[in-house]
Amino acid sequence: MFAKSDIKHEALPLPDFHNMTDEEMQKAAVDFYDFMRKRHSIRDFSDRPVAREVIENCVKAAGTAPSGANHQPWHFVAIANPEFKHRIREAAEEEERRFYAGGGSDEWLKALEPIGTSADKPHLDIAPWLIVVFAQRFGHFDDGEKFKNYYVPESIGIASGFLLAALHTAGLTTLTHTPNPMKFLTELLERPPSEKPIMIIAVGHPLDDATVPSVAKWKKPLADILTVKA
Ligand SMILES: Cc1cc2nc3c(=O)[nH]c(=O)nc-3n(C[C@H](O)[C@H](O)[C@H](O)COP(=O)(O)O)c2cc1C
Repeated sequence: MFAKSDIKHEALPLPDFHNMTDEEMQKAAVDFYDFMRKRHSIRDFSDRPVAREVIENCVKAAGTAPSGANHQPWHFVAIANPEFKHRIREAAEEEERRFYAGGGSDEWLKALEPIGTSADKPHLDIAPWLIVVFAQRFGHFDDGEKFKNYYVPESIGIASGFLLAALHTAGLTTLTHTPNPMKFLTELLERPPSEKPIMIIAVGHPLDDATVPSVAKWKKPLADILTVKA
């Protein structure tokens, strides 16, 4: 919530800049890639608990993301309560059963085949935390007046990426899960109708015998994702 009185331009000296030598920079870039390529979506979670403070700090990291006009058009609901998790599982599986029974296009279902997913979502019960990411189409000033948010999908995508990276850094594994449609989450989690649920991120530790689909290990080579005009 923004206080209207705080909305003014004021230039501060750049805080916190981490100045590196060229060598340090090379190493940091390689190390980060090496760390991030070890992130894997998993679907086989253990029920090992994760402290609430860890989740809170990861969400704080997500909240540092850039956003259109700095409106920060996101809200995260972190759920450890077994009853809530089970209600989410029931509602998500109902949507998923419809999807797999023909609600999803043939092309979409074919695209999912190598991932090996189905309508069964036990991780929604088992993972110690589910984080539901909501997008806010509107914000409110402290006096209640409504304002429009800009570049909401872009901002949400970046913040969610920060969140996944933070959780990975904390030694946790995740599954980005998008039951389709997801509207049931707004009501179930008592969020205002102006908020749109974007994804459920299941968070926890993998089972000892957790697997990943082999296709998920294949990432496009640099030449396919980067064009350089030097
Ligand atoms: C927006 C988005 C939605 C996704 N939805 C689902 C989903 O509903 N169910 C699922 O099992 N995986 C889902 N995934 C996970 C992808 O299948 C996974 O990211 C992909 O296979 C690559 O694997 P990796 O995350 O291990 O690199 C989703 C990922 C993203 C980014």
